Amino acid sequence: MESAITVKPFRTKTETYRELLPQIESLISGEPDLIGDLANVASALRFSFPYYSWVGFYFNLGSILLLGPFQGKPACTRLEVGKGVCGTAAAENRTVIVPNVYEFPGHIFCDESSKSEIVVPLNKDNKVLAVLDIDSYDFNQFDEVDALWLEKIAQRLSYSLADSLISYCSWVSRRFHGAK
Ligand code: SME
Repeated sequence: MESAITVKPFRTKTETYRELLPQIESLISGEPDLIGDLANVASALRFSFPYYSWVGFYFNLGSILLLGPFQGKPACTRLEVGKGVCGTAAAENRTVIVPNVYEFPGHIFCDESSKSEIVVPLNKDNKVLAVLDIDSYDFNQFDEVDALWLEKIAQRLSYSLADSLISYCSWVSRRFHGAK
């Protein structure tokens, strides 16, 4: 496993994502631990892109999104599926790009300095298991290039971790939320 992320500065987004993808592959391949893998990927992303202010995962428990591994300031622990940017991405199983969070109806501020956001679902068999949420302190920071590469990363994570995600979400739901 690579112990350090070595993306050089002053690259285009595409160059940075292209350089980062194999390093993410190396971080997660051969390591099946869900929390460790998601934590490392959040860190790798957060420290590769200066315009990211917060990177993290929310687990889909059905009606609730529960905070998972992240890098950044403390964030909302629970979000409702169907509400806010994360809840919309989860409910509609699609990437949501928000150039200006003030213009997104129902946007939820975990950090009042956030200005733009992207949320990408991790899914299996058309079921959303988690979402990857990234915020920025500047407007218009996310576009189709971020969506393309973050979807590749989400697909790679889903490929390795879908079974662990299903088990973990089911366990948390039963243990803490009384779901059957
Ligand atoms: N802004 C998100 C809430 C999560 S935080 O950004 C970490 C939303 O509207 O769903």
